[in-house]
Amino acid sequence: MSKVICCLSQKGGVGKSTIARIAAVAYAAAGWSTIILDADASQETSNEWFTRRLDNPKAKTTDLWVSRAKGVNPVKKERASGNYDMIIVDGAPHATDASVMYAKQADLILIPTGTAIDDLEPAVRMAISLVSVHGIDRERIRFVLNHCSRNKRETSQAIEAILGSGLKVMGAMLNESPCYRSAMDAGLAPNEVPYFIPKNRATFVAESIANELEAQFCDGSMGVN
Ligand SMILES: Nc1ncnc2c1ncn2[C@@H]1O[C@H](COP(=O)(O)OP(=O)(O)OP(=O)(O)O)[C@@H](O)[C@H]1O
Ligand SMILES: [Mg+2]
Repeated sequence: MSKVICCLSQKGGVGKSTIARIAAVAYAAAGWSTIILDADASQETSNEWFTRRLDNPKAKTTDLWVSRAKGVNPVKKERASGNYDMIIVDGAPHATDASVMYAKQADLILIPTGTAIDDLEPAVRMAISLVSVHGIDRERIRFVLNHCSRNKRETSQAIEAILGSGLKVMGAMLNESPCYRSAMDAGLAPNEVPYFIPKNRATFVAESIANELEAQFCDGSMGVN
């Protein structure tokens, strides 16, 4: 059965599409048939990104697809089709009823956030609501810090705030880096940039996502890097 990862947030611009693309490119490169379901009907940024990707000869993955999230329950439909090993939902800018539906079906829920309190507090509130109002298992939720600066105090305060709320945060995080934007402008993902350090950071995020997913199943290596 397909595995499902969803990227959700309460705020726009925190990195849902960025994290979805990092994971999708890594899984596709590892031989998983992968689809991103773009649940952001108002912008369809991942759909547009995929159009740019198809025009970029540097994009090497073959079995990677992006589609609008269509119908009443797009994850159920794609799971039933049996076409994909990995379904990644790129969530809408704000949490909606659909976000809850995706969270309920996801093996792993990723919540990207910046480190500032203005970003963190809504993200933590959304996660707590998923757990306490909607019955989502908190063990399936991972925060991913994005747009991080070199200020270690900012990062460690953000980590403490998340852990202090009884939630989990991935050790791998993404620094703010203009090369990620230009890569995505060209239809690539941050783990496909040509620069050693930013590429390694994004690759570490992909590996950590794979490890977190694997830990949900404890069924041996999933072979993603
Ligand atoms: N670590 C980063 N460094 C530099 N730019 C980044 C980084 N992460 C994301 N961006 C850029 O920030 C913008 C928002 O990122 P992204 O589209 O992934 O957020 P989002 O949560 O999907 O936004 P939305 O809610 O609008 O769907 C994009 O232009 C993206 O290229
Ligand atoms: Mg987006």
